[in-house]
Amino acid sequence: METRVDEIAERIYRLSTFLPAVGPSGFTFNQFLVDAEEPLLFHCGQRALFPAVSQAVGRVMDVRRLRWIAFSHVEADECGALGEWLDAAPSATVTHGAIGCAIWLNDQAPRPPRALANGEVLDLGGRRVQRLDTPHVPHCWDAGLLHEETTGTLFCSDLFTHVGDPPALTDGDILGPAMAAESQFGYTAVTTATGATIRRLAGLRPRTLAVMHGSSFTGEAAPVLETLAKFYDDLLQKGAAPPS
Ligand SMILES: [Fe+2]
Ligand SMILES: [Fe+2]
Repeated sequence: METRVDEIAERIYRLSTFLPAVGPSGFTFNQFLVDAEEPLLFHCGQRALFPAVSQAVGRVMDVRRLRWIAFSHVEADECGALGEWLDAAPSATVTHGAIGCAIWLNDQAPRPPRALANGEVLDLGGRRVQRLDTPHVPHCWDAGLLHEETTGTLFCSDLFTHVGDPPALTDGDILGPAMAAESQFGYTAVTTATGATIRRLAGLRPRTLAVMHGSSFTGEAAPVLETLAKFYDDLLQKGAAPPS
């Protein structure tokens, strides 16, 4: 198992592990490293991935420099290896939204978490990430995303999930593959708030979408997010069919 490293925005690194046996044509599991005075890792990966992913971080910086560990929601690929990361980086603190701390981290985290309010900014020194509560988007009550303001990078978690092992970064179409994957797997908890939540993200006018499964996107991202919001609005109106 090997984790590749690509810089997708200035000092923002995508750590990508392709697992060929997952799904119909393999699946990437991507974490993102924000290189700053106080480096932040977004997503931990599953515990089985930790040796490869931590080695990949080591190609960019000393793992012990990590100061913050963040993730979108409680699932194995987002936060399974949290304990391993906190062991490897003794100065690191896990940070999450208030709901996630209340329902999970206050009980399960090896060290006390730092709760971030909706809209709160964490100044990393040279990079600034804003926490955005997005309950049930893509799924789970505790879900939230981060937006790095300096580079305009939105860490999208499972939004825009697509299969295979496409390039690290594209300015091409990620919507088509994402809508196909959604129709096949039904991974988003589609509610009356889904479209509005995604439109709020479009309002940030991000320049890079850091996608957890598949290619990241570079370019004008607001229209891409607007189209995704409409896709979910339409799905809700039609009455989303369960995955076949
Ligand atoms: Fe997920
Ligand atoms: Fe995921």
